[in-house]
Amino acid sequence: MALSETDERIAHVRTAFAALYSGEPVLWAQAPGRVDLMGSHTDYNEGYVLTMPIDRTTWIAARPRDDRQVAVHSLNIEGGETFSLDGDIQRSTAVPWTDYVRGVAKVLQDEGYALRGFDGLVHSTVPFGSGLSSSAALEVATATLFNELSGLGLDPVRLAVLCQRAENTFVGVNCGILDQYTSAAGRAGHVLLLDCRHLAHTVAPIHPDIRIVICDTRYKRALTGSEYPQRRAQCEAGAATLAPRYPGVRTLRDVTLEQLDAAREALDETVYRRSRFIVQENQRVLDLAAALPEKGAAALAALTAESFAGARDLYEIVVPQMEAMLTAIHGAPGVLGARQAGAGFGGCLVAFVERDCVGDFGAHVCAAYREATGIESAVYAVEAAPGAGLLAVE
Ligand code: GLA
Repeated sequence: MALSETDERIAHVRTAFAALYSGEPVLWAQAPGRVDLMGSHTDYNEGYVLTMPIDRTTWIAARPRDDRQVAVHSLNIEGGETFSLDGDIQRSTAVPWTDYVRGVAKVLQDEGYALRGFDGLVHSTVPFGSGLSSSAALEVATATLFNELSGLGLDPVRLAVLCQRAENTFVGVNCGILDQYTSAAGRAGHVLLLDCRHLAHTVAPIHPDIRIVICDTRYKRALTGSEYPQRRAQCEAGAATLAPRYPGVRTLRDVTLEQLDAAREALDETVYRRSRFIVQENQRVLDLAAALPEKGAAALAALTAESFAGARDLYEIVVPQMEAMLTAIHGAPGVLGARQAGAGFGGCLVAFVERDCVGDFGAHVCAAYREATGIESAVYAVEAAPGAGLLAVE
């Protein structure tokens, strides 16, 4: 019988683990990447996001150690390191990707959890730097492993919050909760309507006619750049100006379009545009969540188009490669709608495509995008995957 892709992946990791550490891993943690279907930059405004864990995952195959050391290597990036759980855990200068592992260990220990070390081997199918949350997947896989090995009893939401803290305070990226929450709390076959203020979600199935297709511009963005924190600061400035005028306003989540427009004179022009995007995008999340279970083709087309236009004109997170990708998508068969995914500035677009058209859709998009930009894109359908947990490996 032919081996499944998962079996082959397990065999590959197992062989590499034996070569590195001798012997067998005894525990396999996995955490998925994510794609946001609607709700750009709404998370740090305490708003809503329609989000989906994807069947691109980060695994850590591990074996516990009793000497308070953590050894990590990766099959995706050269190099690995060992660090101690005793003393102050520092960032790595030589192998920076281990900071996601170190950061989670540090935050958990700072919270008072007693951790057990391990030998770990990371293998990921989440593309790096594409806006599909490869960093969060590594953090959440790490926390899942510690949770099991050390019997911490963390529930998915608490685990996500601690992973976000690791990213904010240790890695130094001021991200919201979206990525870690989706990876930790996702449910197979479902999209999550996430409420970022209350750290709660509801789930809805995806309409059987619709497939979610990732269209990666292969134009890399860097989240640690100045643009992301700048957008965040502009949103906070908007909320700070509006709060004294309107009782009950704490963040842009609380603001209506009417309130925003009535206060326009008081706002810096850029802050006004950023705030307008967030207020509208938040409503689009709720509207899409209502339309998606019924397929709602007209709503899907309109909401995704408005989201992309707002990201381009108001939030200014769209680069030319993303525009070229949208044009390629709109000329393709079976498209119901498409918009930016992740933080913007490159990375992926997410397309909603008629189930029967996915093959032709992909071929058209790749060819048209190549013709326009000279770049070889990656276009692939994804399924809604389960949230983080242990893999059952025989
Ligand atoms: C990145 C951040 C998230 C979120 C998105 C934009 O993925 O990590 O917290 O802000 O960008 O929606």
